[in-house]
Amino acid sequence: MLNAKIAGIGYYVPEKKVSNEELAQYMDTSDEWIQERTGIKERRYAEKHKETTSTMGATAAERAIENAGISKDDVDFIIFATLSPDYYFPGCGVLAQRELGISGNEIGALDIRNQCSGFVYGLSVANNFVKTGQYKNVLLIGSEMHSMGLDFSTEGRDVTVIFGDGAGAVVLQPEEDPQKGILTTHLHSDGRAAEELAMIVPGSHGGHHEANGTEKYGFPSDNMPGEIFLSQKILDDGLIYPFMNGPAVFKKAVRKFPEVIMEALNKTGYTAKDIDMLIPHQANLRIAEFVQGVLDLNNDQVHNNIQKYGNTTAASVPIALAEAIELGKVKEGDLVCLAAFGSGFTWASALIRW
Ligand code: ACO
Repeated sequence: MLNAKIAGIGYYVPEKKVSNEELAQYMDTSDEWIQERTGIKERRYAEKHKETTSTMGATAAERAIENAGISKDDVDFIIFATLSPDYYFPGCGVLAQRELGISGNEIGALDIRNQCSGFVYGLSVANNFVKTGQYKNVLLIGSEMHSMGLDFSTEGRDVTVIFGDGAGAVVLQPEEDPQKGILTTHLHSDGRAAEELAMIVPGSHGGHHEANGTEKYGFPSDNMPGEIFLSQKILDDGLIYPFMNGPAVFKKAVRKFPEVIMEALNKTGYTAKDIDMLIPHQANLRIAEFVQGVLDLNNDQVHNNIQKYGNTTAASVPIALAEAIELGKVKEGDLVCLAAFGSGFTWASALIRW
């Protein structure tokens, strides 16, 4: 079986920059607090009513397709990772396909719901499609429009200051050289803490009850069918925003990032010293710095850009990778490691010989 390689890459970030100071106009926060805890200086927000997750994803995809030197019609499968889709359903894969103008080709489109790990999970799926010879030009997109649904009041500040909008995409193709391309991928999850970083309404659970029987998350009060997905109580209680237990996420992330990176290195016989470039999911600069310290990597071995874009979830790895390439930080022959951790919890890594 041939390896798969990233043959083309592209990214798109909206023009509108939103500084920490601007957020402080809407909520009780400060540039100092945000920079100290997260490293973020500013993020981008998509243009309301004009841009969406799928349109940004399609723009990044066009750039990746051009970079790969193929035409849109050569794409034979689409994978789209996001947690902030245009619609509840259908997923963004078909919308990106339509936006790219290739719907007539009737190629398959798969949506991935793995949040911050979505891109690396998607890369693993795409890798296997290419390795088995099923597809030759897989388009993988990670895109997020967080700004559409964050809580801009002080109550939502812990989550809202972290996230930004943007998109990244790659084209995967077969690699003839067995020493090059994607060498290994590793996927993990642990659902026991699923609600620690989540947006659980609207959904089919109909409200969780606490152990003491009190209702939570807008459980409807009558016995009529329906009214579970979105009830008036959900809206009245303002439950339609993401929730994050920051310290719990931090603790798990700083253990699982190094673990999954080491798993990829051990599988291929490399050590952390061999990594030319680590692209960690841009969750929080403090997490990335912690991971860098644990693995004893120097600054030239890691690329972070959360300072400019915030956490763009499924888009963060391809945006950071594309930027690292643009800056000349990734060269042919380099050993590149991608790693992500996020809601679920899910975490993943990939090791690529560029
Ligand atoms: N501005 C000002 N104050 C704030 C803000 C804000 N934006 N957000 C929270 N605070 C306050 C809290 O209300 C709290 O106040 P209190 O002491 O009066 O109760 C205080 O700051 C400290 O809150 P903590 O949650 O204990 O702050 P902590 O030091 O843990 O930092 C943070 C919070 C940055 C979220 C941290 O827990 C963290 O980095 N967690 C990791 C989560 C993460 O990175 N998520 C990224 C998304 S998930 C992913 O991609 C994996």
